[in-house]
Amino acid sequence: MTKIALVTGANKGIGFETAKQLTQHNIKVLLGARNETEGKKAEEALRALSLDATYVKLDISNSADIENVKNYIESEYGVLDILVNNAAVFLDSDWFGNNTETVPLQTLRDTFDINYFGTVELTQALLPAIKKSEAGRIVNISSVSGSFGVHLDESHWLYALKPYAYSASKTALNQFTVFLANALRDTKIKVNAANPGWVKTSIGSDQAPLTPEEGAKTGVQLALIDENGPSGTFSQSGEILSW
Ligand SMILES: NC(=O)c1ccc[n+]([C@@H]2O[C@H](COP(=O)([O-])OP(=O)(O)OC[C@H]3O[C@@H](n4cnc5c(N)ncnc54)[C@H](OP(=O)(O)O)[C@@H]3O)[C@@H](O)[C@H]2O)c1
Repeated sequence: MTKIALVTGANKGIGFETAKQLTQHNIKVLLGARNETEGKKAEEALRALSLDATYVKLDISNSADIENVKNYIESEYGVLDILVNNAAVFLDSDWFGNNTETVPLQTLRDTFDINYFGTVELTQALLPAIKKSEAGRIVNISSVSGSFGVHLDESHWLYALKPYAYSASKTALNQFTVFLANALRDTKIKVNAANPGWVKTSIGSDQAPLTPEEGAKTGVQLALIDENGPSGTFSQSGEILSW
């Protein structure tokens, strides 16, 4: 039977490439995008390659959108096999230095609304459909910016880069990964966090070494793990990372 996947923030960047690579594994992919024009463009681009993708309107910080997508998945397919929580924003003024003393609370709230609360609300809403899958997979696209290990390691290349709002939202997402994997430990569902690497996108900038195609690989690999695969891990290209 064809598997059904939902990728959030699938209109561009790593999300679009993740959706594309999943369709190439003969998975039916729902392309979540908050902007209808951009979402439809992404759908057309994949359909032009004879890939099976359908746009769904999904602003993950909008509860009505989440409810609509949940109802659509349940009525149309009755099940969700793969959820890739990819959508996120970077709202700190820049990547450099440490803005913990000055970052406006509104920036923190707006970042957490999407990167953390939106992801948690969407995942909770879709869990009943994921529990109906033979092999549910949840992949949270995180970042080494959220890693305590990295931010305590003076020799790490990211040590000097401490944008607080973005990084803290990814730390919270990592905790969600660990706790949800534990809550679902007696089910067939596996929950893992992926670090894409430093990727050329709006968030990663054009200075980044990796293409979106390369950046999508870890998330896709974790979406496709079999029943012997891990749960509750944080990795990049198969290498376990420090939380
Ligand atoms: N690029 C990197 O180097 C890097 C490194 C580590 C982790 N990551 C993570 O990789 C993921 C993808 O980011 P990216 O690098 O591909 O950046 P991107 O090109 O900016 O893509 C972000 C996507 O998220 C969407 N989005 C933002 N807010 C949303 C909301 N409220 N509802 C639904 N969609 C929303 C954006 O939609 P719009 O087009 O409408 O804004 C866009 O499709 C993120 O989780 C990011 O934190 C990236």
